[in-house]
Amino acid sequence: MLDTESIRKDFPFLRQGCIYLDSTATSLTPEPVLNKMLEYYREYRANIERGIYKAAQIATDAFEGARAEIARLINAKPEEIILVRNTSEGINLVASGQGLKKGDRVVTTILEHHSNFIVWLRARKRVGAEVKVVMSDGEGFLDLSDFERAINGRTRLVAVTHTSNVLGVRPPVKEIVKMAHDKGALVLVDGAQSVPHTKVDVKALGCDFLAFSGHKMCGPTGAGALYIREDLQEKIEPLCIGGGTIEDVGIDHYRLRQGPSRYEAGTPAIAEVIGMGAAASYLMEIGMPNIAAHDASLTKKVLEGLQEVPSLTLYGPKDPRKRAGIFSFNLGRFHPHDLAVALDAAAGVMVRSGHHCALPLHKHILKLDSGTVRASVYLYNTEQDVEVLLSALSEISKTML
Ligand SMILES: Cc1ncc(COP(=O)(O)O)c(C=O)c1O
Repeated sequence: MLDTESIRKDFPFLRQGCIYLDSTATSLTPEPVLNKMLEYYREYRANIERGIYKAAQIATDAFEGARAEIARLINAKPEEIILVRNTSEGINLVASGQGLKKGDRVVTTILEHHSNFIVWLRARKRVGAEVKVVMSDGEGFLDLSDFERAINGRTRLVAVTHTSNVLGVRPPVKEIVKMAHDKGALVLVDGAQSVPHTKVDVKALGCDFLAFSGHKMCGPTGAGALYIREDLQEKIEPLCIGGGTIEDVGIDHYRLRQGPSRYEAGTPAIAEVIGMGAAASYLMEIGMPNIAAHDASLTKKVLEGLQEVPSLTLYGPKDPRKRAGIFSFNLGRFHPHDLAVALDAAAGVMVRSGHHCALPLHKHILKLDSGTVRASVYLYNTEQDVEVLLSALSEISKTML
């Protein structure tokens, strides 16, 4: 059980008395993370990897310490963690660095966030890669036999989400990895919505790449991570090269460094990476299984409650064991944006509305033009938050429909 009351005290944003149910878009940031970033600016503000004076060494140690904590969060080695800006940049790095050629196949799914979708469409446009999209059923479940058919001998990569940011469904990634590897393809997992909420172990999962964002796991904006399995790093070209990425440069040649720094050109987001490392420590201290259990218990309450609200259509599975704490719905004829504004105005409830950067899913599976309203829960949410959401929805449904 989480001590939610004491956890909430760490999050200054909550002191305003609002009900924050939009952690799928971005999470709130606790004091220990904010303090760690301020400490950098106040006490050892120097560039990393370059200076030999004391503050520069403290900054370098803090930056590398953060990498180690981020690695520990997903059971990777620090050398396997590339520090990027966010999930989108991590995925772009894999997409551009793989050297896809005409006729190479990429398999992805209809559940994906645009960040793990349009990069593949661009590879099709630019180099003639073939993109195969595995469709889901109406609730978002994927069928392994569709992957069996989609992954062929020309498949270079399978790019799949670990948790849908719209329906909360969790594709059978471990089985997909095994199937892809058996056929000689690599697997990129979009961990934007899984890493913050549950224990992700890249070794147990067996994936080759995993991208995730600091700002969705109680860290700051501007820092994210891409796990690249160590033995693959030589084969993936960096997205950017420049300062910090080289072993040697001459007038007509350069040689890139080994390890993550070959991918990290220029001065990175030092304070933000240190903050993301502090966020990883913060989550691990609380315990990922405890966070997952808390999410699961709120998920049950939200699902039961939403189904009682008159005229509400809930998308995705109704069984709480089959989904994460992300709930997309519509209420009667309400436009999703109007409903989100009404929830904010009536009860201070913050939810997201629109297509959540997943237009293909909305168009082809949910068959909705104007999108959905999405509420999502995290470690600082309480049963009372859920009750406020549910009663505000019921009230709006009764009085305004
Ligand atoms: C599943 C998923 N993938 C990728 C992203 C993109 O993350 P970012 O905006 O941090 O790059 C998001 C953001 O909502 C997401 O939910």
